[in-house]
Amino acid sequence: MSDLDALLQAAQADFAAAPTPAELENAKARFLGKSGRVTELMKGLGALSIEEKKTRGAEINQTKVAIEAALTARRDALAAAELEKQLKAEALDVTLPGRQRGTAGLHPITRAMERIEAIFGSMGFDVADGPEIETDWYSFSALNNPENHPARSMQDTFYVDMKDENGSWLNLRPHTSPMQIRYAQAHAKRYAGQETMPEIRVIAPGRTYRVDSDATHSPMFHQVEGLWVGENISFKDLKAVYLNFITAFFETDQLQLRFRPSYFPFTEPSAEIDIMFESGPLKGRWLEVSGSGQVHPQVIRNMGLDPERYIGFAFGSGIDRLAMLRYGVNDLRAFFDGDLRFLSQFK
Ligand code: PHE
Repeated sequence: MSDLDALLQAAQADFAAAPTPAELENAKARFLGKSGRVTELMKGLGALSIEEKKTRGAEINQTKVAIEAALTARRDALAAAELEKQLKAEALDVTLPGRQRGTAGLHPITRAMERIEAIFGSMGFDVADGPEIETDWYSFSALNNPENHPARSMQDTFYVDMKDENGSWLNLRPHTSPMQIRYAQAHAKRYAGQETMPEIRVIAPGRTYRVDSDATHSPMFHQVEGLWVGENISFKDLKAVYLNFITAFFETDQLQLRFRPSYFPFTEPSAEIDIMFESGPLKGRWLEVSGSGQVHPQVIRNMGLDPERYIGFAFGSGIDRLAMLRYGVNDLRAFFDGDLRFLSQFK
């Protein structure tokens, strides 16, 4: 074997033995570097004759090209091995079961509200929204509450540490009834000066607040206010509308409605609405679901309307109560604990 063949073999063996790209570069330097073995051979050419130089030079060059080819081959092999290693490490097992993305559901109170809005919408009621921080006038005075009415007292109503322009403390609305006034006022204003005014027919669902907390009362709860005012709206309309609503809400005709005389400053006469299921687990029990009544003339006046001309009814129902009855929940607090084991049942 010629010395050049031996050199090529040595280089190939060295390259093959280099386990990493860095060590391969060291091996390269030993053969092709400035003082590497190939370079040394080239330097030796100077001592030869012109003829010898030609042949020997060409041979050394061939060897050099072969060594470079061996180097490139080893570089590629190392890179391929590295890639292989990485792919193995990041291997994806496509047979594993996929990770599921949880599907969210609407809160039961939201679902109940949407039902209520859809049912009253089908009866031609508008849906209105209003502020939860109210003035004394909208929460109480406009609703014909006497100055000393207990609903105003600190025991029932949450007050906000801020006063309105009349110097009265703002409150967290204890009922949705202020929306009767707000909506009717805007309506009266819109049609002021016109010969006829379309009827006011609206529901206003939303959050309400009272200082109260037990299994059936939460300091934050939900009501839906209803108001229908026109020139000839009577209690029989209230009965028809409410019966239609409640049978649609519970999807059953197997229930009865009862209007029990009551008192609210803003309605006269006033009634509590009770329902009784004729079948199912709650069969035979009267359950209170709403306050209601014919809108008091003074309240009609506070809306900016003439009580000699306009008359109507209002009701205020507890949405949480309706949701509890519909979904069979017996502790109101479950709605507001945020426990996903409870909430995830409503999808
Ligand atoms: N606002 C009353 C309540 O919260 C309910 C009600 C509304 C009664 C409208 C009559 C008319 O108890």
